[in-house]
Amino acid sequence: MMTYHTKRTFLFVLLTLLLTGSANAQTHEAVGLKDVYRNYFTIGVAVNQRNVTDPTQMALIKKEFNSITAENDMKSGSLHPKEDVWRWQGADRIANFCRQNGIKLRGHCLVWHAQFCDWMMTDKNGRPASKRLFFKRLRKHIHTVVKRYKDVVYAWDVVNEAMDDGGPSAYRQSQLYKLYGDEFIAKAFKYAHEADPSALLFYNDYNASMPTKRDRIYNMVKKMQAAGVPITGIGMQGHCNIYGPSAQDVDAALTKYAELVSHIHITELDVRCNKEMGGQLQFSKGDTQQMTDSLAALQAAQYARLFQVFRNHKDVIDNVTFWNLCDGDSWLGVNNHPLLFDEHLQPKRAYYKVKHFNPNN
Ligand code: G3I
Repeated sequence: MMTYHTKRTFLFVLLTLLLTGSANAQTHEAVGLKDVYRNYFTIGVAVNQRNVTDPTQMALIKKEFNSITAENDMKSGSLHPKEDVWRWQGADRIANFCRQNGIKLRGHCLVWHAQFCDWMMTDKNGRPASKRLFFKRLRKHIHTVVKRYKDVVYAWDVVNEAMDDGGPSAYRQSQLYKLYGDEFIAKAFKYAHEADPSALLFYNDYNASMPTKRDRIYNMVKKMQAAGVPITGIGMQGHCNIYGPSAQDVDAALTKYAELVSHIHITELDVRCNKEMGGQLQFSKGDTQQMTDSLAALQAAQYARLFQVFRNHKDVIDNVTFWNLCDGDSWLGVNNHPLLFDEHLQPKRAYYKVKHFNPNN
């Protein structure tokens, strides 16, 4: 039987818990992802021109994120389509948005076979450019770009997707590799470090937790570092789906990469509602598919598993970046519903699952 005094104490404690709980819940929504993860890693987003000009989208970015990546506007092919042609406008707009709002910028990306300055690989006679000519052009490009943004860019994806998922060669058989071998990787990092010695320099790839690809990335970075190449970070893109990769594979990859680098970024996170994964440019945009309750639950569970692993590796993970702001922006198409915000910029079940985590487990 509770005495009067015990009953009063019980009610006081209960009331306090309820008030604190609801206050937390309210303040929780008043703060963004960047705030609840301030003791873990920065939270980033890849942006396009609409995202940094539309007031509603800019407000959402400033509330939720403290790192930005230009989805396309800082790619070498976009910036430097011809030897004497530079297109800075889009990249400058994103860099200025970061400068004006005190948001750090991830530079993406200096060398990528898929959107590169292909003119660099051909000489004036239309023949493959010699190593001397190519590396002279590459150095000038990297120095020009890196120096332009060194006040706001803290990390560069220097080389993107140079390794092959599972073919006979560890290296992707790109024109870059066929003409210049893996020396283009070494030289790209060398030039980036010359241009901005303080920037973190990342090798970035997708399917980086698949064991075969993981080991290929690991062996390449280890070989490069042994030769004095300044690779300071590994970017795991994180283009996932609701079924994979497994938490175990992601955990194993983070553990292995941490043997080589003290900076790992999850650079392009999305969780598509189908069975495909990776950053390949060939993928199905999915049939018109509504976001059902069961898909929402599967997606929230996968995001929760991934962020549990990320939090467990907060000692080496500095940043987790979502690839695009909302489903309507996604390179995968809105029908894959891959992000935390739907096409109307409304938070989805996965958003709350990522945000309201238990820090004690
Ligand atoms: O800007 C042109 C526009 O002028 C033209 O009218 C239009 C139609 O042809 O194309 C526009 O360029 C498109 C560009 O996105 C900007 O929207 C390109 O065709 C299109 O291929 C390009 O797709 C991007 C893709 O990389 C290739 O660069 C995606 O938006 C972007 O999300 C995707 O991102 C990559 C990462 O950089 C690297 N990791 C994989 C990831 C997904 O593929």
